[in-house]
Amino acid sequence: MSGTASQHTDVDGVNGGVGLTALLVAAARAIETYRHDSLAQDVHAEHFVRAAPACEHWPVRIEQVPDGDADPLWGRFARYFGLRTRTLDDFLLRSVGTGARQVVLLGAGLDTRAFRLDLPSDCVVFEIDRAGVLAFKQQVLTDVSAAPKVTRVPVPVDLRADWVGALTTSGFEPAVPSVWLAEGLLFYLPGSVETYLINTVDRLTTAGSALAFEAKLEKDLLAYRDSAIYTATRERIGIDLLHLFDKGPRPDSAGDLTAKGWSTAMHTPFDFTRLHGRGPLPEPNDALEGNRWVFAHRPRP
Ligand SMILES: C[S@@+](CC[C@H](N)C(=O)[O-])C[C@H]1O[C@@H](n2cnc3c(N)ncnc32)[C@H](O)[C@@H]1O
Repeated sequence: MSGTASQHTDVDGVNGGVGLTALLVAAARAIETYRHDSLAQDVHAEHFVRAAPACEHWPVRIEQVPDGDADPLWGRFARYFGLRTRTLDDFLLRSVGTGARQVVLLGAGLDTRAFRLDLPSDCVVFEIDRAGVLAFKQQVLTDVSAAPKVTRVPVPVDLRADWVGALTTSGFEPAVPSVWLAEGLLFYLPGSVETYLINTVDRLTTAGSALAFEAKLEKDLLAYRDSAIYTATRERIGIDLLHLFDKGPRPDSAGDLTAKGWSTAMHTPFDFTRLHGRGPLPEPNDALEGNRWVFAHRPRP
């Protein structure tokens, strides 16, 4: 398959490029875990942050953030990741509750769902990410003697390469209902790679399967370049998200899945803030404004 080279190929691990964004989410999950009104718990998250030289000075508790919730990066943006984690935890648990027995984490990063969620014992979790990210993750988890609750299969492969071969060689079975998550991933990939990914999920899934993904709907990504979230992330921890995002046209993946017979629902993150009574709400010049969470199901006959 084809995919354009982009700036995020240059660093394979978590020390820079798009891999560092996995640590940003891990730090956010650490902070979320120990909030008094926590939406999601991940006790492993802080170990990743502590093990990576790149984030030596990052906080892992909201009490370590001088402005607390008012901080655009470790307050509002971190809470966004906490809300996203909780929402996709719930989606995943509902999907296995209705029969899915394979979980595929696309761009898994430092996701520890195989270690922390009560999944059925016959569930298999496949984690796809680039080799350097998965190697760092494994090292940290081994160092803290973390044991997955279900079978966990790391699949080190670049999603712009032949990841289907890597996944099926790793034991993924298309005939078994599956649930797929693309959390914080698609906007880093060229549109053609996203289209291939969505078509492939359609091809590799049977009735009763499900997919959730995050998309950005802005026509012009740069419209919010001065937003507090982008500015703080760039200036304080050196992650230039707008530089890492693919700038090409985006496919209508929700529409494509609907056309293929999937049922799809699209929500704003703010819908879930209202559902849970906590999380980010809209604000002026908001980098979260165009974010959408899409939940798709492949119906049973
Ligand atoms: C923002 S992180 C999100 C990680 C995880 N899904 C989570 O929410 O915690 C983005 C992840 O996508 C991965 N990623 C980006 N481009 C990728 C590619 N071409 N192939 C495989 N993984 C990729 C990065 O390595 C990183 O771990």
